[in-house]
Amino acid sequence: MIIFFHNVKRGPEMIWKVFVTREIPAAGIDLLRAAGLQVEVYEQDQPVPEAVLLEKIRDCDALLCLVTDAITAAVIGRAGRLKIIANYAVGYNNIDLQSARQHGIVVTNTPDVLTEATADLAFALILACARRLVEGDQLVRQGNFTGWSPLMMLGTDVSGQTIGIIGAGRIGTAVARRAHGFGMSIIYADNAVNKLIEKEYRAQRKELDDLIGTADFISLHVPLIDSTRHLIDQRRLQLMKSSALLVNTSRGAVIDEEALVRALANKTIAGAGLDVYEHEPLLAQGLADFKNVVLLPHLGSATNRTREAMARLAAQNIIAVASGRAAPNAVNL
Ligand code: GLV
Repeated sequence: MIIFFHNVKRGPEMIWKVFVTREIPAAGIDLLRAAGLQVEVYEQDQPVPEAVLLEKIRDCDALLCLVTDAITAAVIGRAGRLKIIANYAVGYNNIDLQSARQHGIVVTNTPDVLTEATADLAFALILACARRLVEGDQLVRQGNFTGWSPLMMLGTDVSGQTIGIIGAGRIGTAVARRAHGFGMSIIYADNAVNKLIEKEYRAQRKELDDLIGTADFISLHVPLIDSTRHLIDQRRLQLMKSSALLVNTSRGAVIDEEALVRALANKTIAGAGLDVYEHEPLLAQGLADFKNVVLLPHLGSATNRTREAMARLAAQNIIAVASGRAAPNAVNL
C-alpha cells in the first residue's frame, strides 16, 4: 500500500522535528521520514533518561513516547514548540494530560490496532492459570515428568465457568468474544451498558462487588485513572471466591499488589495471571514466590504485526498534526 502525505517540509527553519524515545518498528519511522519530518531516535535499548528527555523536548515539534516514559508536568513545562505527544500505547496514564492541554499540546494513543493481541494475551493468561501451563512446563524441563498420572497437576475448567470482565470497552469486548467461544458465562462491570456483548454473547451487567463475588475468572480491562487505582484492593480480593483466578493485562496499579500478595499467601484466591505491575518493572515482595501465579513482562501488544500497526498509527497522528489536520486519535481535547 502506498500512502501519500503532503510534504510537511516548508523551509529549512520549519522542518518538523520528531523525537522518538526508543527504537520502534521501522514502519513508523519510515512513514515520518517519507512525510518529510526530521526524526531522531534515542538509540540506547533502555528507557530514555529524564535528563535526555528534558533536553530533547525543548527542541522538537513532536514526541513519540512509550508507556515507560513519564511525561510529567515538569517535562511538558520544558517544551519549546511541542505540538503533539504521540504515545505508543493505548493507555496514556504515563502522560500528564492536563498539563499537555494547558500547553496546547495534543496527546494521542494507539487504540484498536492492539485490541485483539491484548485480548489474546488475557486469554492466554486465563488458560495458563487454569491449566497450570507454566508449572507443567517447569516440571517437564526439570526432568520430573515420570509419566501420566491420574492426579497429577489437576487444574480448573475454563468452559462452563463464569468470567467477570471489568471494563467492557474494546479489549473487554474482545475478551468476551473469546470467552463466549470457550463456552463461558459472561458477566461484566462497566459504567456504560455494552449492548453488543449483551446481545451477541449473552453477557450480563453487574455491580462491581457483585461481579467480584460471582466470577470464577476476573479479567481487568479498565484504564488507570484516579477512580481505578487499587480498584482491586484488600476488601475486593476478600470478596472473590477462594477458587477464583484474577487476570490483569490493563495496568498494574489497578490492583493493590501488596494486598494481592497477602491474598495469595492466605489462599483468599486461587491464583493470578499478571502482565503488568504496580511499580513496573519491579514486583511486590513475595509475588514471584507463588507457583499459582503466572508472571509476564508486559506483553499485551507484543506481536510483530500489532507493534508495527502501533508504530504506523503513532506516526500518522504526528503527520496529521504536522500537516495542519486534526489528530485521529487525540485523547485530551
Ligand atoms: C500497553 O500497555 C498499552 O497501553 O498499549
